[in-house]
Amino acid sequence: MEIKIAPSLLAADFSDLRTEISKVEENADLLHLDVMDGHFVPNISFGMPVISSIRSVTALPFDCHIMTTNPTVYLEELAEAGADIVTIHLEAVPDPTAAMAEADKLDLGFGVVISPHTPFGAMEPWVEACQMVLIMSVHPGFGGQAFIPEVLSKVEAARKWVDFHGLETDVQIDGGITTETAAQAVAAGANVLVAGSAVFRRDDPGEAIESLRAAVGEGT
Ligand code: DX5
Ligand code: ZN
Repeated sequence: MEIKIAPSLLAADFSDLRTEISKVEENADLLHLDVMDGHFVPNISFGMPVISSIRSVTALPFDCHIMTTNPTVYLEELAEAGADIVTIHLEAVPDPTAAMAEADKLDLGFGVVISPHTPFGAMEPWVEACQMVLIMSVHPGFGGQAFIPEVLSKVEAARKWVDFHGLETDVQIDGGITTETAAQAVAAGANVLVAGSAVFRRDDPGEAIESLRAAVGEGT
């Protein structure tokens, strides 16, 4: 299973995003962008103007994790800003049929996300139509929180579902990923690891990505 690492820009120095992104350019597989509205989650991060500004400084695919109320209405603007894949929370949109159709029309990759309190069953009907599913391993809203190990059983369930149905859907995990928890997440079946603090809060973010790869038995 190919493991992809998606550094979360939320942990970067916002005063110098161009430099911060250049530190992970060669090592990351995706750039994870956390869009928060201060309503769906109790924090505000950044939105379309920032995403379109950084589009010109990197070739990394943009993995946009949307933590807003009404995420569907932003899909067109996200596509225009340069998003490659967008994931939306089932707690915000329990039936993502319309959002999926809209993403498809816009040629945007699409995925659904569940927060720690939401069971895998809420996600089951949508896995087949998703390019990626995201199991949150912290409560959405803030970086730097501790990994919630209870979500690993949902990662196992998602991996089982994907493999049993012969799907290509990526299983992503987000929150509290360190070299230790990365190994647990991959053992449970995750193949896309989001890491904010464990990458951008290290002296050498590129090397930190390689440490995560090494911790899950991959590496260059
Ligand atoms: C939290 C965000 C995460 C966050 C992860 O709501 O979805 O992507 O940036 O940060 P760490 O890796 O520090 O837990
Ligand atoms: Zn995220």
